[in-house]
Amino acid sequence: MSELPLAVYLFALFSLVGWVLEVCFRSARQKKLVNPGFLAGPYLPLYGASVLALTCCIIHLNKGLLEPFVADLIDNAMPPVGDWGRLLIAAGALILSKAVLYFFVTTGMELVTGLASRRLLNRQLWDYSGEVFCIGNSVCLKFSCLWVALAFFYEYVAFPAALSLGRSLDPVLLLALGLGVCLAMFFDFCLQANKVVKTRRILSVAGTEENHREFSKIVRPLLEKEELRRLAHFRHHWNKTRLDHSMDVAWLSYVITKRLSRDYVSAARGGLLHDLFHYDWATEGPRLHGLRHPRICLGNAEKIVDLNSRERDIIKKHMWPLTIMPPRYPEAWCVCLADTYCGVRDYLDAARRLRRTSNEGCVQSRL
Ligand SMILES: [Fe+2]
Ligand SMILES: [Fe+2]
Repeated sequence: MSELPLAVYLFALFSLVGWVLEVCFRSARQKKLVNPGFLAGPYLPLYGASVLALTCCIIHLNKGLLEPFVADLIDNAMPPVGDWGRLLIAAGALILSKAVLYFFVTTGMELVTGLASRRLLNRQLWDYSGEVFCIGNSVCLKFSCLWVALAFFYEYVAFPAALSLGRSLDPVLLLALGLGVCLAMFFDFCLQANKVVKTRRILSVAGTEENHREFSKIVRPLLEKEELRRLAHFRHHWNKTRLDHSMDVAWLSYVITKRLSRDYVSAARGGLLHDLFHYDWATEGPRLHGLRHPRICLGNAEKIVDLNSRERDIIKKHMWPLTIMPPRYPEAWCVCLADTYCGVRDYLDAARRLRRTSNEGCVQSRL
């Protein structure tokens, strides 16, 4: 199985398996049915992502680095202890070094996800308060040891079993199922994030008067440019003008990057300029618009304003993965995510409004 379908398949499969594990564990602990995580559906992407990181360790680090390193160490640094002694020391050293590696990988992912969900979504998805050796209530020693044990179980039992299951199925079907689960997770995430934004969990904290003033100060010089104002004449996502969409992306990018203590000025400016093109993409413009318009926008933006390397990266890569090369700066990742989120939200809002209008039409025609 090649690497991309394998990654999609493992991510989807273990996001589902992780959800089942968490539901059983939390429901048994709280004596009621609990749906864990941020998403509504039966998946936990943190498990899928952790499994991908562990798979990278198993395929690349363990075989290419860890095992030769331990063998070298045993050969050169150990006193002669006979074959059995040598074997035992080698096995112990290998297990120990793998345990340390798995500890940092799983605990690191848990810590980053726990802190990010608290900072960005104001949600404590799990809480280790009261546990010993606990950091930010997001990781603790007891569960980190459990993750290491699960990582070994994954390496020696679950990963080989998942591989043989994958090989027994049609690869195209497998990829389609994997992509289907990933897409479902993505749309689920957009819906849940939209709810958070609507209940102003993010904006009530970030959207203070002072932040609105600062954001206006950043974008005002750009909004005075005629090329930017002309975006108000183009419809972008059904019911939105391109200028409204660009302002949404700029504001959301500003909020996220400010929360992450990144370069929020470049993120806001890049977000505002990311779709600076002047044609109706549905009927005009070059073929393969999705792929080519980032470069057109970059050319247009460079004509009206001086850009730094972050802003150039933001505009050029905002359509990743269509643009193949991934963003280089964290600010560009934030704008790329903000743009995708705003696009999906606009289409979902427009579809909901359309459905409501057609329902009202049906009711009126019956009256
Ligand atoms: Fe775009
Ligand atoms: Fe966009």
